[in-house]
Amino acid sequence: MKNFVTKKGNKYWPSQEMKSIAWIKDDKIYKKDKIKFWEEQAKNLQWIKPWKTAYEEKLPYFKWFKEGKINASVNCIDRHVNKNKTAIVWIPEPHNQKKVEISYKELQEEVSRFANLLKKLKVKKGDVVTIYLPMIPEVIFAMLACARIGAIHSIVFSAFSEEALKSRIIDGKSKVLITANGHYRKGEEVYLLDKVKIAIEGTKLKKVIVIPRLAKRIPSDFINYKKEIRKESSECKPEVMNSEDPLFILYTSGTTGKPKGIIHDTGGYLTQAYTTSKFNFNLHENDLMWCTADVGWITGHTYSCYGPLSLGNTLLIYEGSPDYPNFGRWWEIIQDNKVNVFYTAPTAIRLFMKYGDKYVKKYNLDSLEILGTVGEPIDEDAWNWYFKNIGKSKLPIIDTWWQTETGANVINALPGVGPFIPSYAGKAFPGINMAIVNDKGNKVKTGKTGHLVQLSPFAPGMLRGVFRNEKRYKETYWSKFKDKYDTSDGAFMDKDGNIRLVGRVDDVIKVAGHRLSTAEMENALDDDEYVNEAAVVPVPDKIRGEVPVAFVVLEKGKPSDELKKNLIQDVRKRIGPIATLKEIYFVEDLPKTRSGKIMRRILKGLLSGKEIKNVSTLVNPDSVKKIKENLA
Ligand code: WTA
Repeated sequence: MKNFVTKKGNKYWPSQEMKSIAWIKDDKIYKKDKIKFWEEQAKNLQWIKPWKTAYEEKLPYFKWFKEGKINASVNCIDRHVNKNKTAIVWIPEPHNQKKVEISYKELQEEVSRFANLLKKLKVKKGDVVTIYLPMIPEVIFAMLACARIGAIHSIVFSAFSEEALKSRIIDGKSKVLITANGHYRKGEEVYLLDKVKIAIEGTKLKKVIVIPRLAKRIPSDFINYKKEIRKESSECKPEVMNSEDPLFILYTSGTTGKPKGIIHDTGGYLTQAYTTSKFNFNLHENDLMWCTADVGWITGHTYSCYGPLSLGNTLLIYEGSPDYPNFGRWWEIIQDNKVNVFYTAPTAIRLFMKYGDKYVKKYNLDSLEILGTVGEPIDEDAWNWYFKNIGKSKLPIIDTWWQTETGANVINALPGVGPFIPSYAGKAFPGINMAIVNDKGNKVKTGKTGHLVQLSPFAPGMLRGVFRNEKRYKETYWSKFKDKYDTSDGAFMDKDGNIRLVGRVDDVIKVAGHRLSTAEMENALDDDEYVNEAAVVPVPDKIRGEVPVAFVVLEKGKPSDELKKNLIQDVRKRIGPIATLKEIYFVEDLPKTRSGKIMRRILKGLLSGKEIKNVSTLVNPDSVKKIKENLA
């Protein structure tokens, strides 16, 4: 393994060896004019027609590369075909199934066939296509096939429940669903079509394309991908898209019960996906990148598809679970495939910490050059374990802060610039302006915690709206500070501009790095006939970061283990197994303000054993005392 870092005090810096191969070697890049920086980067993409206006802002809206015409699939495929190299390495979970390598040429053929099939099913530019697929190569074919014909893909995480899938199909007004009959997870066959049948019932969606991942029959009212795809031509002319046409929507959780469809447009998103993949992971021609995120999340969109492919790199995807058949699986994959860039989440790192490093030791990880992390704050213990055991104290850890809404990385240290400080994400990426402000929107002093916001010019990868819900876009992101994008994260900055994140300030929680809304879980509980009212709050968890617990006021019946079990099931059914409540506390009353708002902060405080002082704003201060007794 190469030695890419040196230590000075409690900070790590890039070594000469790292600097000699880094795209960015010094911090001059941070001083560049921001719009010019992005223009220079966008020129690395292939445009059908160049833009005239680089950036236009009429808040809360802004545009990048306004008159530019582009197609994302051309950028991710066609322009790399002549390089004669592998685009995707796919590792199936079962050991007795061979890995699959797909060249850029094959990718072009597969995607074109898929695009032609979608066209045959009458999918047109601007239509939403829902994708409900596990980590198999066809998920990338499907995304790029949509991009090829200008359809907007809407991916739903394959472990989400039928109800979660249904609500996303309805909100997206989607007429076509791409799914699989199942996949392998922890050595088991997971069947998907029962969930699919329930999800589409009563919706306008009638066309379902099924990829036969398992040797199981495909019902005749569904379209068998394997059979139909053979009939399609391997050539498909790419649609000419405006830079500001939507590329995809992705539903994510917010503070209300209903998930919102975050819209990402083509030219700007692709520019930031490309640039951050290149600079943050220092990707060069022959590097192999493995981002462990499922494409059901934004990280999978940007770093398991659009980023590395727009650069013409090779990316690796793995179907299964990290602990199958044991906790050595990921390290075995890195060793056998000589992975250079490895990007994962703190929750996975904590899992490996717990199960010891004996598995890691068995494998040769010398091919690794850059380590990345994303999804939640990484504590110093996990950082150090990752650094020592996976990076052998030689590799930089690029801790990337960003959101579904930002489309790509926003805050992180650059591998050739540093510093890499345990638990600090780093500086705002070149071309991006971040600040920490108080409630009034004024910058706070160094070291003080405040709201993390983005300032104009807003980065090209930023969301352009909430699908069919302008009001929600304006209220969620632009009502608190007007001219600043509100991230809903708390953070503080050191004197050099390095940012440390402290977590969400709204009612969004992160369970194993997955974003969930407490309101969505509460709605599921409230809908149960036995429940009068419920409040969900996070409690810390050693591995998963946070897990949800609920306080429930009953409408009828009596508290029982049976009822508890049913209520836990209600929430899993609404969202999926990641939304499993760790505990339910039955209480008489929930602490509320005069305006009726449930004070989740107080509930959180009670759970962590904090002294709750100021209860004067509550209409029912007695409730706090009673809950405390109940918890004791
Ligand atoms: C959190 C994931 C600390 C943050 C890409 C943000 C992080 C939310 C980090 C978005 C990080 C993400 N350090 N916190 N490196 N990365 N977060 O939309 O609270 O699933 O607002 O996007 O994850 O989650 P989302």
